[in-house]
Amino acid sequence: MKRVNDFLKDAGVYYLATVDQDQPRVRPFGTVNIFDGKLYIQTGKVKDVSKQIHKNPKVEICAFKDGAWIRVAGELIEDDRREARESMLNAYPDLRKMYSEDDGNTEVFYFKNATATFTAFGKEPEVIKF
Ligand SMILES: Cc1cc2nc3c(=O)[nH]c(=O)nc-3n(C[C@H](O)[C@H](O)[C@H](O)COP(=O)(O)O)c2cc1C
Repeated sequence: MKRVNDFLKDAGVYYLATVDQDQPRVRPFGTVNIFDGKLYIQTGKVKDVSKQIHKNPKVEICAFKDGAWIRVAGELIEDDRREARESMLNAYPDLRKMYSEDDGNTEVFYFKNATATFTAFGKEPEVIKF
């Protein structure tokens, strides 16, 4: 899982796909944080992406860096603990301009039943489950 976290952080940007009825939706994301042994991402409850995840927690993310890419498929589960939000905001202090632990908007989700696939041209894909 740390390898997944490090790849996503090094890539800087990943693309998060959600399901909106029968329409896939995708957008750039950057937040990723390990807390309490799980891999978290952050968003705001007001966003469509949040509403889509609450309706259907199955997501996939993809990032590319230096000729290699990763896909992580799984479910996102909201963690409503203040300390989970705090850990994320501490990892991204710039986010505090827009978010805070107690604003009623900030939310963090962790991956459950995740399958990460590392791929590079000319190499066999490597699968990690967490
Ligand atoms: C490089 C980059 C990183 C971003 N990271 C995040 C993020 O971690 N969390 C988030 O909620 N929005 C992030 N955004 C903003 C979302 O992409 C944007 O709010 C998007 O419209 C949300 O999707 P939605 O419109 O389907 O709700 C990021 C945007 C960019 C350009």
